[in-house]
Amino acid sequence: MAFNPSARQASLIKAAIFVLALLPLARMVYLTLTGQLVEPLEFITRGTGDWTLYFLCFTLAVTPLRKLSKWNWLIKLRRMLGLYMFFYGFLHFMTFLWFDHFFDVQEMWKDVLKRPFITVGFIAFVLLLPLAATSTNAMVKRLGGKRWQWLHRLIYVIAPLAILHFWWMKAGKHNFTQPIIFGLILGALLLMRVYWARSKALTAATVAR
Ligand code: HEM
Repeated sequence: MAFNPSARQASLIKAAIFVLALLPLARMVYLTLTGQLVEPLEFITRGTGDWTLYFLCFTLAVTPLRKLSKWNWLIKLRRMLGLYMFFYGFLHFMTFLWFDHFFDVQEMWKDVLKRPFITVGFIAFVLLLPLAATSTNAMVKRLGGKRWQWLHRLIYVIAPLAILHFWWMKAGKHNFTQPIIFGLILGALLLMRVYWARSKALTAATVAR
């Protein structure tokens, strides 16, 4: 089904998604401030972790959805979704640094090095930093398209690390359902990209012959 919104409609859709993406944070703040949570710290740490993972999935879903539906305008949403992934990841990290360690960076380091699931989450977050820092048009221009694309392939490392972090965290409770579901979703989204990239390379090689 073709759906080609005008530039104005596409901007409205983007603005609506921008607002919707803030609702999970608004809910967390509201429930905390109104004292409705039994374990607010755990709720916020887990909530922000969950939303980092959801936005990772949404960001990686843009290209496959665009290719399958031919809705090319979807590409306009990708950067914003990626930045929301970083935003919730940053809040997730800050909750950990604040509530778990009261901004004691040395204590935080000890914890990061001691608990493997946190080590892995931390590496995933650090790898998100260059992606967020190079998300502007000016940075794409400065790096050049090819180098920018190479750098953004870090997402192929970040996604498995995020799943490993989630898996390890759940391992204590022997509850792997969610990590398996998200692992399958992210695996499928990444494999589709690999498949399309290989088909493109093969076509280019055939044409060049
Ligand atoms: C890309 C980066 C990251 C992603 C996608 C991510 C995702 C998640 C997810 C999905 C959860 C489980 C939430 C639930 O139970 O529903 C979680 C929990 C947690 N994460 Fe992360 N995380 C990331 C980075 C980090 C970092 C950088 C740290 C700290 C240095 C961290 C520390 C934690 C902690 C302490 C928990 C809660 C464990 C518990 O309640 O027992 N994560 N994360």
